[in-house]
Amino acid sequence: MKSAFSEAIVAPPATTRRAATTRNDMQWRTRPNLPDTHYVDTRVYTDHGVFEEEIDKLFNRMWLPVCHESELPKPYDYRTSGVSNNRPIVVVRGPDNKIRTFLNMCPHRGNIIVRAPSGSLLKAEPSGNPKHMTCMFHGWQFDAKGRCAEIPREEDGYQDRLCKADVGLRELRTEVAYGGFVWVNLADEGESLSDFIAGAFDGMHTELESEPLEIFHYQKAVIPTNYKLWHETSREFYHDYMHFHNRATGMLQPGYFDRKYQVFPNGHAATGLTTVAYDAYEGNKERHLTFPGMPKNGWKQLNIFPACTYSLRASCLRVSVMTPLSESETLIEVRGLGLKSDTPEIREARIIDHDTIWGPFGRNIIEDLLAVQNQTLAMNESPAAKYLIMAREEGNTIHDEIGLRSYFAEWSRRMGRPASNPVAGGAAC
Ligand code: FES
Ligand SMILES: [Fe+2]
Repeated sequence: MKSAFSEAIVAPPATTRRAATTRNDMQWRTRPNLPDTHYVDTRVYTDHGVFEEEIDKLFNRMWLPVCHESELPKPYDYRTSGVSNNRPIVVVRGPDNKIRTFLNMCPHRGNIIVRAPSGSLLKAEPSGNPKHMTCMFHGWQFDAKGRCAEIPREEDGYQDRLCKADVGLRELRTEVAYGGFVWVNLADEGESLSDFIAGAFDGMHTELESEPLEIFHYQKAVIPTNYKLWHETSREFYHDYMHFHNRATGMLQPGYFDRKYQVFPNGHAATGLTTVAYDAYEGNKERHLTFPGMPKNGWKQLNIFPACTYSLRASCLRVSVMTPLSESETLIEVRGLGLKSDTPEIREARIIDHDTIWGPFGRNIIEDLLAVQNQTLAMNESPAAKYLIMAREEGNTIHDEIGLRSYFAEWSRRMGRPASNPVAGGAAC
């Protein structure tokens, strides 16, 4: 079911400006004098029961991007990964060029079947045949379409009680879309990918679909924070105050405060086009390269619920995906992409531009990491509820926090209770 997010704001009593003061413990834990859509209970980030329910109600039922088609360019190429709370999967390009995804778990005794991060099935495993996935444990083999092709001593052991037709791999719904990303869904039934996206990519269509894209950068890390906190660093730009680079190239430039959010059904939110004065940062240069349809130095960003961000900064596309491992641990994966048609010189320029902001030593990524890890440290100080504010309203412009509110509106819809009161029994105050 789709839901168009619209804010029904119930005006709270006007806050009279008072002299600033400190608060005692009871005051500190009292709900803010704001609509319950405008603040969140910290237990959405810290409670283990909430985490388990998110896996069940969000990640096990929704479309999630797992890799890019250029990571497996030829028939029989594969890429292993994890989905939802990191259930192992293997993505395989079949002999028919179709990309399929399977749980990477042997139906015999549960071993991981394909163990390398990527490769080609054309090369045989020591105990198997080429063009097959071979489980190292007892030598069962599966073809590139996930069918069981070999059970050693099948009839001797199972007679007519079990045969290869009974033990194919578990196949996941898979689609390649939105810039050539491979999206999977653990649920056999449910909305299509395009119904789920609900037009959110329309504003990036020309950039993503005019010609094939190609990955040039991949990095991953496990960070000690809740996945939502990391995702939120892409959902609000008020924290540009933390990034000197963004202050110099954006906030101090004309037009910065004109940039607007657009919210879509199902919790997706985009930040519209802006242009960035890259050369306002000492040592930076203007970015001459772009994507099709993108103006020079342009920047667009799109956040897909529940844990993915496409950020298109002039010459390079970054797609980041968060995989929740626990309520306080998240696998982040970052991919950088250019155009498949790039010359070596153009590709090198895109890589430099990408790494300047988002590489392992990029200007912004370290600062965001520091912030979310420190949030986690502070929130875990006690399990009791505290409240975080997302109440900025500035006509949907760049320091408005509508990107956070639209996220938690969808979160509340799918979880069946408000993010401002997420744990049975409610909060103390
Ligand atoms: S566990 Fe895979 S063949 Fe036995
Ligand atoms: Fe940031």
